[in-house]
Amino acid sequence: MSEHISESISFVHSMTLSHGRNAEVWDINGKRYIDFVGGIGVLNLGHCNPQVVQAIQEQATRLTHYCFNATPHQPYLQFMERLTQFIPVSYPLSGMLTNSGAEAAENALKIVRGATGRTAVIAFDGGFHGRTLATLNLNGKVAPYKQKVGVLPGPVFHIPYPSKDNGVTTEQALKAMDRLFSVEIDVNDVACFMFEPVQGEGGFLAMEPDFAQALRAFCTEKGIVLIADEIQSGFGRTGQRFAFSRLGIEPDLILLGKSIAGGIPLGAVVGRKALLDNLPKGGLGGTYSGNPIACAAGLASLAQMTDEHLSSWGEQQESAIVSRYTAWQASKLSPYLGRLTGVGCMRGIELATPDGAPATKQLAELLTSAREAGLLLMPSGKSRHIIRLLIPLTIEPDVLNEGLDIFERCLAALA
Ligand SMILES: Cc1ncc(COP(=O)(O)O)c(C=O)c1O
Repeated sequence: MSEHISESISFVHSMTLSHGRNAEVWDINGKRYIDFVGGIGVLNLGHCNPQVVQAIQEQATRLTHYCFNATPHQPYLQFMERLTQFIPVSYPLSGMLTNSGAEAAENALKIVRGATGRTAVIAFDGGFHGRTLATLNLNGKVAPYKQKVGVLPGPVFHIPYPSKDNGVTTEQALKAMDRLFSVEIDVNDVACFMFEPVQGEGGFLAMEPDFAQALRAFCTEKGIVLIADEIQSGFGRTGQRFAFSRLGIEPDLILLGKSIAGGIPLGAVVGRKALLDNLPKGGLGGTYSGNPIACAAGLASLAQMTDEHLSSWGEQQESAIVSRYTAWQASKLSPYLGRLTGVGCMRGIELATPDGAPATKQLAELLTSAREAGLLLMPSGKSRHIIRLLIPLTIEPDVLNEGLDIFERCLAALA
């Protein structure tokens, strides 16, 4: 792409973008694309959302930066007040802002160490929590994240992720926990479990609610902190504010990022106040975290995420995707059409060979043919064989249908 950019940064689509509007983007040659990637889950409210842009512009004329560790500022205070009202839990919340999702996960690890005096973390096979050194080790996938970086901060252990989408049952996952605590580590050394209510990078796999409930009870009994990573599944992605609500549990800490601020870098750790207050003063923070412009963008995003909007956007998108998928299946559109994964409008479309193996090669072909036809798609899953649909919730119905038409034609043409 450019000799000035590290070749270790990979990208899915080899083209250069110029601008975007809601669910459409244009490259520097003026070619238009329908965007089913949404900046990998950042743009639930679309590109250049007018209210977000207005908030950024107004904030840019008032205060562009102040380090909150030096002096509190109004946008941070207002945003945290609004954000904590937005999280649907029954207990009093407190939190901190970060610049990214990985930074939120890193801070959560510090917070649980401070709160429990323990260090071990249990995460899940196929999970993804970031690319910083500590979060690498939380990821339940080696290539490419953990390669060539040597020993990673621990202790971290992984167990299978139970989901109807991958065939791992609650019983199997609970058995793996039993084994872990009898073979690998004393349960009294465990600080936290970290899970995604719907795995993103892992292929849009939805966690089994009965496992989540058993895990919640286990963590409460053992004094272990339960952390939900809602960085990809949150802010309306599933048609609800957060995906943990469908599991019938309340996590102790929640990690936030991506669509929290309409495209401006912002992340957060929020949770039980008693957990957040254990590190020494100055132990949390950062120069840019909770930047005023990011907080203004976050406030403008939350203002649009009413429950009515989220459920109507979610239902509209879910029914469009599910009805197309069902028709494709009924008409045997392609021998490579596999399962529909995920929940609500957080859906993955698996490509599999007729004998059930991941159709990784066909998925790569689909990415290219769809792009050439004007549709951007994003892969996921251990074998990069599941298209994850991260379509802006605000997409116009005719643009959504146009994108699904392109998907359909390219899927039908796969050899
Ligand atoms: C579930 C989840 N957690 C954490 C992260 C890391 O977020 P960031 O890339 O903002 O560091 C991601 C990014 O894809 C994610 O999907």
